[in-house]
Amino acid sequence: MKLLGKDPDGLIGKVLWDEFSHVPNEEAMRRVMSERVPISDELYYAPLGEYVENHMYPSPDGGVVSFQRYVTERRRVQEELQKAQAELAHVARVMSMGELAASIAHEINQPLGAIANNASACSRLLSGAPQEARNALRDIVQDANRASAIIARVRSLTKGSIPEKVSVDVKDIIGDVLALTQRQLSEREITVQTEFAQGLPLVLGDRIELQQVFLNLIMNAMEAMEGLGADRRSMIVAARHHELERSPGVLVSIQDGGIGFNPRTAEHLFEPFFTTKPGGLGMGLRISRSIIEAHGGRIWATANALTGATFSFALPVGGA
Ligand SMILES: Nc1ncnc2c1ncn2[C@@H]1O[C@H](COP(=O)(O)OP(=O)(O)O)[C@@H](O)[C@H]1O
Ligand SMILES: [Mg+2]
Repeated sequence: MKLLGKDPDGLIGKVLWDEFSHVPNEEAMRRVMSERVPISDELYYAPLGEYVENHMYPSPDGGVVSFQRYVTERRRVQEELQKAQAELAHVARVMSMGELAASIAHEINQPLGAIANNASACSRLLSGAPQEARNALRDIVQDANRASAIIARVRSLTKGSIPEKVSVDVKDIIGDVLALTQRQLSEREITVQTEFAQGLPLVLGDRIELQQVFLNLIMNAMEAMEGLGADRRSMIVAARHHELERSPGVLVSIQDGGIGFNPRTAEHLFEPFFTTKPGGLGMGLRISRSIIEAHGGRIWATANALTGATFSFALPVGGA
């Protein structure tokens, strides 16, 4: 109250809206008084420069009891998390567009080459043909070559920047992504249990890329548990020692209690555009596989004995 320029003692016995010209939650307070129901809201209090959480309850004497809590810091953290999530989602989209562009470029290159070759052959065979026909053939060759040059540029662009390989702790990667997805996980009341082996070595990798992989797997696990009962909404994230081609490595696995996958489709899960979701793109696992393989590792899926799936990836300590 002092911050608002009022003496607390002087306010006793006064009516709130007589003292303050603008009470942001006046309407809610009036509703609590007239309808006798508790109401909570969150408002920005301009004079304080703070977001405030209000809990208003009808009191037995016909008035209102109200509790307030400053939540500016909590909101700031939430907003930052949302921003980080949006950025990651953007990275995922850009990466899948890149893959898409690269594969189209690859597919188109060959027929373009064939067009140019055939047009050259034609203009040789038709050396006696009218000038116009020969000009048209020359244009075809030139246009096909130009298209090839564009495609070559797109391909070099989508090969992407060289990932930055540094020593990373997979436990940190897991921790970062779990912090980022904490909100979605708790909204869906999904419990996450982590099991980390002692003395895990560091791996050589690109932090952002590995986060992207782990994020894909977490999102997939979350989506696989959509709408299931509480007993199925849990996942176990583990990091263990693992040997990769007789060299030391680290294995990360995510075991979920979700709908699982049909054993017959198991081999297709990592293929581009394979999705069983109405709004799915089917690129998440494909991208994850290319990232892990670029790190000299392996990624695979297994069906759980009872319910759900386990997705695992292993990375060599020394990197690719
Ligand atoms: N944890 C999981 N449980 C069951 N099926 C899964 C899981 N993760 C992935 N899948 C299957 O693999 C498919 C491809 O996954 P992904 O590449 O991430 O694409 P998207 O999520 O867009 O469908 C999914 O549509 C789903 O059928
Ligand atoms: Mg996915």
